[in-house]
Amino acid sequence: MSSVTSEHSGIVQGSPDFRDAGLVFPSDFTFGSATASYQVEGAAAEDGRLPSIWDTFSHTPGRVWNGDTGDVACDHYHRWESDLDLMQSLGLHAYRFSIAWPRIVPTGRLSDGVNQAGIDFYSRLVDGLLERGIRPVATLYHWDLPQTLEDAGGWPVRTTVDAFADYAGVVGAALGDRIHTWTTLNEPWCSAYLGYGQGGHAPGRHEPAAALAAVHHLNLAHGKALQALRATSTGSPEYSVTLNFHVLRGEGDGAAEAMRRIDALANRAFTSPMLRGVYDEDLLADTSSVTDWSFVHDGDLATINQPIDVLGVNYYSTATVRLWDGVSPKQMNDGHKAAAGGTAWPGSDRVVEFVQQPGPYTDMGWNIAPEGLLDLLRSLSAQFPHQPLMITENGAAFADEVAPDGSVRDPLRVDYLRRHLTAAHRAIEEGVDLRGYFVWSLLDNFEWGYGYAKRFGIVRVDFDTLERMPKASAHWFRRLAQTGVLPA
Ligand code: FCB
Repeated sequence: MSSVTSEHSGIVQGSPDFRDAGLVFPSDFTFGSATASYQVEGAAAEDGRLPSIWDTFSHTPGRVWNGDTGDVACDHYHRWESDLDLMQSLGLHAYRFSIAWPRIVPTGRLSDGVNQAGIDFYSRLVDGLLERGIRPVATLYHWDLPQTLEDAGGWPVRTTVDAFADYAGVVGAALGDRIHTWTTLNEPWCSAYLGYGQGGHAPGRHEPAAALAAVHHLNLAHGKALQALRATSTGSPEYSVTLNFHVLRGEGDGAAEAMRRIDALANRAFTSPMLRGVYDEDLLADTSSVTDWSFVHDGDLATINQPIDVLGVNYYSTATVRLWDGVSPKQMNDGHKAAAGGTAWPGSDRVVEFVQQPGPYTDMGWNIAPEGLLDLLRSLSAQFPHQPLMITENGAAFADEVAPDGSVRDPLRVDYLRRHLTAAHRAIEEGVDLRGYFVWSLLDNFEWGYGYAKRFGIVRVDFDTLERMPKASAHWFRRLAQTGVLPA
């Protein structure tokens, strides 16, 4: 068994703070930016879209900071053309966006009908990208489950898997002639554990056993969606999934055991079935007091274990764990402060605690640790040597300085990006098959439980006027995308 641990940690000699400039990336390396449907589109009730779990959640008092919702968001649904012009002006090679399931199959059930207006929106978007020379990288599920499906049980029930495969077949047939890369799921860790265990994400349930059933059904949905996309796409797209890995550091006598448990729940619960066709014995044992895993049926693991062309990697920071003594006040600095009463760690919540990380921190309170990205890329490449990797999200929330002339300075974001790209470059030099990097995010947007309070964009959005203003980081990223050389 291998894991993402501190085994390789430590500052790399010759690059003590990962602040290099002048590094040259391979000529075919992809530089892109990412967004997600509910975070940017708005137009929540237009053209046949029905509510998703995030509409319900954000409209429930007390769930999202300041009562913010995605009703309008960045209004990308209406401003898509000028947003595409903006991307082109930034020299982006690729755009990672997500498709809102409730725009395509509004109730989630094919028998209730497919919404042509929703398909037309994404079809125009894809054509607009291709006209501008930008590769479309589409995610099928970035957390907006049709509310009707949640009302019938959500991800903890198996019928949701078939509904997802049906939806995948519809988008595959509609867009699979033009999409460059299909991504089935974004961060199923968040969908399962934050949505159904910890409760800080929609639908906000606190049911540890349901969270583990959701893990399995999301894995199975990934496998069935790959089958449906392959059966319907007439172009030659690449296939992928995006996972958020927990890069772990350990403290105290039981450090190795604490890291093993969290690695099993957070990382291997997804990589082992998807890339090896198994659930690891230690995961099943650690969670045996929560569930007997009887929701795993014969044949499921073979369905989940489909080949993928590229593994999407989202990375923001590291986590430090130790065994909890069961007596001291428990520390839960796992970066998910919007805790809502439940646990994201079924089976290990009374065993492991998350201790405060050394700074510096971003505005999210997440520690800045570019060496963690290097550790992660090394670890994945060692575990899955033939699996090409793509960084599908990396970036940082910071408050911007808006000058009187309207220009936006964000030196901390530039510094964050430079350090992480230096780490990525180091991995490539070491032989890791890393194909590209997508900055999170193109635009300031609806940051889930934090609403509009946290700004991740390289382009500032004025949420009163919805005006866009590229920040200094956008100009810096444009130089990188255009030259392939890490700017100073
Ligand atoms: C990731 C999500 C993305 C965004 C960033 C900050 O977990 O995939 O939508 O919220 O974090």
